[in-house]
Amino acid sequence: MKKTIQVTINGRTYTEDVEPRLLLAHFLRENIGLTGTHVGCVIGECGACSILLNGRLVKSCLLFAPQADGKEILTIEGLAANGALHPIQEAFVQCYGLQCGYCTPGMILAAHYLLMKNPDPTEEDIRKGLEGNLCMCTGYMQIVEAVKEAAKKLK
Ligand code: FES
Ligand code: FES
Repeated sequence: MKKTIQVTINGRTYTEDVEPRLLLAHFLRENIGLTGTHVGCVIGECGACSILLNGRLVKSCLLFAPQADGKEILTIEGLAANGALHPIQEAFVQCYGLQCGYCTPGMILAAHYLLMKNPDPTEEDIRKGLEGNLCMCTGYMQIVEAVKEAAKKLK
């Protein structure tokens, strides 16, 4: 039996009927059409599906859509304002912090969460903050540089 949920995503409220076992990642992509939330491992290992739920970084493949009922979500689509890239997005472009881009939305949201909690992170803080997000392409150096640059831009 479907359940009606109400979720605010990137500032807009949606009311949807969902199967109780629908994954939150699939809800965002298929019901809402926000395909910037990527799906990789579906077991909580890769971080491609990372989003902010009520301000906390979570892996949306580990939650069912009804668990977001009444809550607020930020996806990568909500980070850019008025068509302009967010400073973290700019820093990733500037520092070559992405190649194929599959990990990038989750990586940027993890960086956003880290910089909200710690605006002046050390390299170790950055590596620890991003340890739940895997990248198969970059070797991580450029991602770490991008987060350092983003921290400067956000000061
Ligand atoms: S798809 Fe969610 S952590 Fe990999
Ligand atoms: S840029 Fe390809 S997985 Fe990270």
